[in-house]
Amino acid sequence: MSKKRDFLSLWDVTEAEFAALIRRAEELRFLRQVRTPHATRPGRVVALIFEKASTRTRVSFEVAVWELGGHAIVMGRNDSQLGRGEPIKDTARVMSRYCHGIMVRTFGHERVKELADYASVPVINGLTDLLHPCQVLADLQTVYAHFLEHETKTPAGSVPDVVQVLRSQRYAWVGDGNNMANTWIEAAGLLGLDLMLACPDGLQPNPDVLETARRQGHGRIQVVRDPREAVAGRRVISTDVFASMGKEEEVEARKRALVGYGVDRALMAGADANAIFLHCLPAHRGEEVSDEVIEGPASQVWQEAENRLHSQKALLEWLLS
Ligand code: CP
Ligand code: NVA
Repeated sequence: MSKKRDFLSLWDVTEAEFAALIRRAEELRFLRQVRTPHATRPGRVVALIFEKASTRTRVSFEVAVWELGGHAIVMGRNDSQLGRGEPIKDTARVMSRYCHGIMVRTFGHERVKELADYASVPVINGLTDLLHPCQVLADLQTVYAHFLEHETKTPAGSVPDVVQVLRSQRYAWVGDGNNMANTWIEAAGLLGLDLMLACPDGLQPNPDVLETARRQGHGRIQVVRDPREAVAGRRVISTDVFASMGKEEEVEARKRALVGYGVDRALMAGADANAIFLHCLPAHRGEEVSDEVIEGPASQVWQEAENRLHSQKALLEWLLS
């Protein structure tokens, strides 16, 4: 029997596996558009455990499992014995005897790691304080599909190489050096992307993730302070909330630290003329993004949110095969 695979980080897949996931996600997007059923994983049961709130992750995973022919069991913080202190390692072993896969959203990244260590079925990270790999998978599907449709010229009949298309864009991150920023750094390391992040002092990305990504030797990853420098001439501009889940008590201090880090029309004017704007959502208009940017022509946020469904189906198919 082959060893089970988990998806706790983008670094749990190879470059080739990542590209295959994006290609399959695009196929699945098309199949759904033309209403072709694709119940490729009938009878598979996936537990979705949430120790933090969610709209997109919860609904997209539940729909994904259902459309693949399986069944999802959603457990909130107070629905299971986890909320009353049952050890994660016990939960992992019990759930593995009922379910074919487990997705978990929680606080400390070590909780997901422990779950994966003790589970005998694949574990998916649906967001931790450190990483949000499912989101950046969907984000890069969005980038690939957008630039394929709008720009890439390929000979008729040939499928453009996913990594080549992604590498031919330049990326910027503006704001908190949070779980999303860390995951973009992982993506840059894995795929060789040119990424510049603008994060203020005190809200820098995780130094270990940054060092490991740089050691991988792929891509060019820079961290600066000035948002204008980060977006200058770049194609893909991403941001996220000032205060992530679990940081609610820091909201006011973060608002002060992140003055000037909101993505507004003036900032977007410094990006490439064909740049797109991404945000994992939920968004706070007037804080990290202005209403005119999120509602404007560069915004791809709704397609990005939709792509959570397609890319997670590709991921589930692969992990539950
Ligand atoms: N982007 C994202 O993960 O959204 P939810 O918190 O709604 O799941
Ligand atoms: N960085 C945000 C992402 C939400 C999807 C958070 O962790 O709350």
